Amino acid sequence: MENPQIPRHEKTILVLEPNAADRDRIAYRLQESGYNVLSSGDGTYGLNVLDTGQVDVVITALVMKPVSGTRVLEVARAKDRRIGVIFITDYGDVESAVRCMRAGAFDFLQKPVNIDKLIAIVDKVVENQAVEMENLQLHRQLDSKYGLSNIIGNSSKMVQIFEKIAQVADSKATVLITGESGTGKELVAHAIHYNSPRRDQPFIRLNCGALAEGVVESELFGHEKGAFTGAVTRRQGRFELADAGTLFLDEVGEISPAVQVKLLRVLETGEFERVGGMRTVSSDVRLITATNRDLWGEVQKGRYREDLFYRLNVVHLELPPLRERIEDLPLLVDHFIHEFAAQHQKEVEGVTNDVMTCFYQYHWPGNIRELRNCIEGMVVLSRGSLLQLEDVPYHVRQGARRQETAGYPFPLDTNRQLQDASTMILRGLHEYMSAYLQSYLGQFLPSAPQLEQNDNQVTVEVGHSLEDMEKKLIEATLKKVDYNKSQAAKVLGIGRKTLYKKLEEYGIDGEPRV
Ligand SMILES: Nc1ncnc2c1ncn2[C@@H]1O[C@H](COP(=O)(O)OP(=O)(O)OP(=O)(O)O)[C@@H](O)[C@H]1O
Ligand SMILES: [Mg+2]
Repeated sequence: MENPQIPRHEKTILVLEPNAADRDRIAYRLQESGYNVLSSGDGTYGLNVLDTGQVDVVITALVMKPVSGTRVLEVARAKDRRIGVIFITDYGDVESAVRCMRAGAFDFLQKPVNIDKLIAIVDKVVENQAVEMENLQLHRQLDSKYGLSNIIGNSSKMVQIFEKIAQVADSKATVLITGESGTGKELVAHAIHYNSPRRDQPFIRLNCGALAEGVVESELFGHEKGAFTGAVTRRQGRFELADAGTLFLDEVGEISPAVQVKLLRVLETGEFERVGGMRTVSSDVRLITATNRDLWGEVQKGRYREDLFYRLNVVHLELPPLRERIEDLPLLVDHFIHEFAAQHQKEVEGVTNDVMTCFYQYHWPGNIRELRNCIEGMVVLSRGSLLQLEDVPYHVRQGARRQETAGYPFPLDTNRQLQDASTMILRGLHEYMSAYLQSYLGQFLPSAPQLEQNDNQVTVEVGHSLEDMEKKLIEATLKKVDYNKSQAAKVLGIGRKTLYKKLEEYGIDGEPRV
C-alpha cells in the first residue's frame, strides 16, 4: 500500500539485473507503487544513467558483466553519497554481500527476491533522504539566524568582537559574555555555538535569574524520582541535555553560593550528581555564560566565588552598549527596517533625517533590543516609505530632546564619514557634558514634560502612554524595594516571570545603578 508521506512519484529508481524475468517483476512492482523506474540488464547502461541523470536509489545485482555491482556502487557513491544502493545477491552468497555493506551499500536481498520487502527498503532509503534534506534546510535557517552575518555592526568595537568569536568558536573554552541588557549577549552565545564544531549538537539555555534558588539546582543537574515533593519521575538536567553540545547560562551572576560550588565541580571534573541521587553522572559540555552584573565586583564584595569566576572567565567578551558604538546606528536601523518590513509586509525603506538625528541623540538604555522594538513598532504603524519623526515613540523623542537642550545638538551630515567622525567627537563631548551637568547643574536642567518620580511617588502628566506609566512604576518600585525582584513583583501584584518579561520589553535592566 502506498505511504502518502513518501513522495514516490518524485523519485527515480535504477534497476540493474541481468535476469530479465526478475528485472521486469521488480520494475513492474516499483512502478505500480508509484516510483519512476529505469531498468537494464547491463551495468554500462547504469553508469551512463548515473553520469547524466538524477537517480535516488539503485537496485543492482552483485554479479554482472562487464560492469559489476560493486563498480556501480562506487560510481553512485562518488556522485552523491545520499544515493541508496541495494544489492541483489544469489542465494547463499552472504559473504560478498557483507563486503558490499562494508563498502557503503544500504542493504542487500538474496534471491528469490521478496518484492514487498524490497519496496519497504526503497521506501526507507527515500524517507532517510527526506529527513536529511530537512536537517540541511534547518541548518541553513539556523545559519541565517545565528550566523555571524546576523550580528550587525562594523564599528571597531564590534569588529574586535567578531574576531574574538571566530577565535574562540573552534575551542571548548568557557566564555563569559558581559554587557548591558539588550547588547546582544544571547545572540553572541548562539553565534559561538553555531560556528563551533558542536553546531550539530544541542544548544541548551537556562536563565538562572528567572528561577527560584532551589529550582536552579534541579534544572542544572536534574533530579531523581522522589528527590523532593513533586519529583514524581527522574528528570535530566540541562548539563545532561547539553551533553556533546553547548550550555548557555544566562544571568550566571544570580546563582546561590551552594550552586556556585556545584558548578565549579562540573567545570573542574565534568561530573555531578542529580538532586537526591548518589550516582555520579558525567557530561561533555561547552559552557557559555552571560551576565549584566559586574561579576568581578561581586567577587570583591565576597558574594561570588573567585575560583568560579576564573573558570567562567577563561575568555571574556564585553559587548559595548549601543551609545558606545553609535556609529553602527545606520546599519542597525537599515537591518531592522528590512526585517520588519518583510515580516509585516510593509513597504518601508528608511527613516527621515529628523528620525536619524533623534536616534543619534537618544541614549538607548535598552540598547539594541530597545532600538529593535522601537523600529518594529514604527514599521507596523508606518504609512509611507519613510518613517517619520512623529512615529518615534514619545519617550525616545523626549529623551533625545533632553540631550539636545542639555547643549548637545547632533548634526546629521549626509556624508557618512563626516557623520561618523562628528559622532565620535560629540559622543566624547556629550559624556563629559552629561557628567558635568549631572553633578553640578542637575537642578537647573530644563525639565521636559516628564513622568516625575521620587522614592514614593510617580506623577504622570496627561499626554503619556499607559506604557510610559507602567515602565516608570516598575522602575520606581524596583528602586523602593532595593531591586529585589520577587518583592517588586509582589508589590506590583504580578508574577516574577511577568516582571522579567516587562523588564525585557521596556529595556529596564533591573539592577541598581552605581
Ligand atoms: N549586533 C546586533 N545585530 C542585530 N541584532 C542584535 C544585535 N545585538 C542584539 N540584537 C538583537 O537585540 C535583541 C536583544 O539581544 P539579546 O537578547 O542577545 O541581548 P542580551 O544582551 O542577552 O540582553 P539581556 O541582558 O536583557 O538578556 C535580540 O532581538 C537580538 O537579536
Ligand atoms: Mg539575554
